[in-house]
Amino acid sequence: MNKFYITTPIYYVNAKPHIGHAYTTIAADVLARFYRQQLGKENVFFLTGTDEHGQKIQKVAESAGKNPQEFTDEIVAHFKELWDKLDIKYDNFIRTTDESHKKAVQKVLQTLYDNGAIYKGEYEGLYCIGCEQFKNESDLVDGKCPDHNIVPELIKEESYLLKLTELQPELIKKIESDEFKLTPEKYKKEILSFLKNQTLRDVSISRKNVSWGIPLPFDPTHTTYVWADAFLNYLTGLDWDGNEKKMPKFWPADVQLIGKDILRVHATIWPAMLMHLGVELPKILFTHGHILSGGKKMSKTLGNAILIDEMLEIFGTDGTRYLLLSAGTFGEDVDATMERLVEKYNADLANGLGNLVSRTLKLSEKISIKIGTENHGLYTEDIVNNPEIGKAIDFVWNNIKNLNKYIEDNKPWELAKTDTIKFEDVMNKLVHGLYDISEALMPFMPETSEKIKKALETKESVALFPRIK
Ligand code: ME8
Ligand code: MG
Repeated sequence: MNKFYITTPIYYVNAKPHIGHAYTTIAADVLARFYRQQLGKENVFFLTGTDEHGQKIQKVAESAGKNPQEFTDEIVAHFKELWDKLDIKYDNFIRTTDESHKKAVQKVLQTLYDNGAIYKGEYEGLYCIGCEQFKNESDLVDGKCPDHNIVPELIKEESYLLKLTELQPELIKKIESDEFKLTPEKYKKEILSFLKNQTLRDVSISRKNVSWGIPLPFDPTHTTYVWADAFLNYLTGLDWDGNEKKMPKFWPADVQLIGKDILRVHATIWPAMLMHLGVELPKILFTHGHILSGGKKMSKTLGNAILIDEMLEIFGTDGTRYLLLSAGTFGEDVDATMERLVEKYNADLANGLGNLVSRTLKLSEKISIKIGTENHGLYTEDIVNNPEIGKAIDFVWNNIKNLNKYIEDNKPWELAKTDTIKFEDVMNKLVHGLYDISEALMPFMPETSEKIKKALETKESVALFPRIK
């Protein structure tokens, strides 16, 4: 691999960002930082942003008594502020209301219309405004969308459609062969079984009665369906102007990180748009599970939501980053409670890492060890080539445990009195070991990593992760 392009979903701006948005974005930031270390920063591109059009946002803006642009500007400021607090270092933040994005979307739709991939018809279906998607009967539970707990609205209107049915066999092949790799494996299976058991309907890509959207260039009485608009962010975020013959150097995406709620659209409509354009598909679509709270979906009515601002206040930036990513197996659903997060903070951060750092610094006051600033490369080749977040975290924490055990086994505070040669030897190993850990920690906990390195150089003590009672 010589370049790395990673994307998050672009988030809806109907409300302020929440812990789920933070989860995906932190994970993407970790991978981006990891690859900046490995490949050099000029070879990595990390894109995130906001999805600002459509019926849902039009409606909330209206009920807030604001025009939609004014409304979305305000919410976007909250997203950017949260990403700053979480130390998210994106290379671009794309907004679907950016003029250049809108222009490129129109250009693409014109191309698809001209080459016959889009045609005029009528669409009838059950629309869930929460999902901004037409649902199949089989997706509903007691007639309601299970994700949003609302009864979808029956819509029948003139619409432009994108051909999907004809691409189905080719799409299946691309997924089966991993040319378009869906991972973890269970999601690949899920999508393949979905694709093999039903015929994909051509999909509606325009709305006649939604004004807050990008007008179709060939029929301005329609606006672009919000998902068709949104998917193209992955390309316009690289400054792409919509010309399929001139693709940005970072394309195709190496990893597109998404939650399982939006897997199906990402595995059908999105690749179909690219296939119609003759553009290469993303290499990996990585789907993760949801964060639950006490076994349930977080919700205002249940009052069980874990608030990201509260986490930041209690655990700090790096503590929050670490706790979210390590709360469960990355990829699977993760069940979090504030109680368990505090426990894990105390065990892994206050005791595990914090203890290692303070003991090592205290002991090293007695000696002088020079540490090089070269990359010691603690990560194994296996992790570099296949950076599963959970695996990398486990790897670093095993190193921390081992080094703590090394201290206990060798009792350097005794050696300092009895055997200075052995003492220096042990301390040498300890200081270098901690330096390597700080390097390996950088993608997860950038600020902590810097603090440890600096403390090792200056011998000044540093307070990390005080215990929470
Ligand atoms: O779907 N746990 O935006 P969205 C983990 N605009 N991750 C979660 C989560 C949870 N409980 N809740 C949300 C949209 N997420 C579209 C996407 S992309 C072209 C358009 C994360 O604001 C997860 O990444 O509803 C999920 O897929 C995403 O937020 C949905 O964000
Ligand atoms: Mg959603």
